Amino acid sequence: MKIGVFDSGIGGLSVLKSLYEANLFDEIIYYGDTARVPYGVKDKDTIIKFCLEALDFFEKFQIEMLIIACNTASAYALDILRKNANIPIYGVIDAGVEATKKALKSKDERILVIATKATINSQEYQKRLIDQGFTRVEALATGLFVPIVEEGIFEGEFLQSAMKYYFEKVQTPDALILACTHFPFLMKSLGNYFGKNTKLIHSGDAIVEFLKEKQKLIFKENKAILHFYASSDVQSLKNTAKIWLNL
Ligand code: DGL
Repeated sequence: MKIGVFDSGIGGLSVLKSLYEANLFDEIIYYGDTARVPYGVKDKDTIIKFCLEALDFFEKFQIEMLIIACNTASAYALDILRKNANIPIYGVIDAGVEATKKALKSKDERILVIATKATINSQEYQKRLIDQGFTRVEALATGLFVPIVEEGIFEGEFLQSAMKYYFEKVQTPDALILACTHFPFLMKSLGNYFGKNTKLIHSGDAIVEFLKEKQKLIFKENKAILHFYASSDVQSLKNTAKIWLNL
């Protein structure tokens, strides 16, 4: 199966990494809108417009399925993208909520969603989690983590200060939903910060599990062929992919 993976920039490589390592596809076309990232500080209409343009971009590749790796895009544009396409399109939010349900034992456990401002303001995670019966859902925009990851900072003093700034007044959650493509790269530091009792929910791993169930995908012997495209500086995206995906 040939699929597309769309993100606002390089962060979606975290989702691509999970999809690639799961060995479920023959070919994966990754497109990052690096010219216009970040989406997480933009308004709904702009995010939808950019996502529809991305859908047009994928048309020439004749993909059989599209994954929206970007949480912000998933929050605002999934429905409209589906209306405009004749292939299955999956975002990461339902998958993240499913993974959280599986990770927690009780509906009273404490959940913290961290994401961009736009994702948090959309309330998409919060609504779905509350619909599932969870009673203690907190959400926090932690947008500073996006440029920190783009700088290649995954640990150390600078990140510690940012975590302290955001989390000082937050009670330790039972599940922390990493509702932004960039945040899985901070998993180790976030895990150390909150401790081993906090379960970390990774969008990439969540979508792999979700797709295996929904699309009845099976393990393939060969690795997928990867193609990288970007709206600006594709070489830099390829260089980052090489490092982050160990290609
Ligand atoms: N990819 C975005 C997300 O997952 C983060 C970066 C951005 O703001 O565009 O929400």
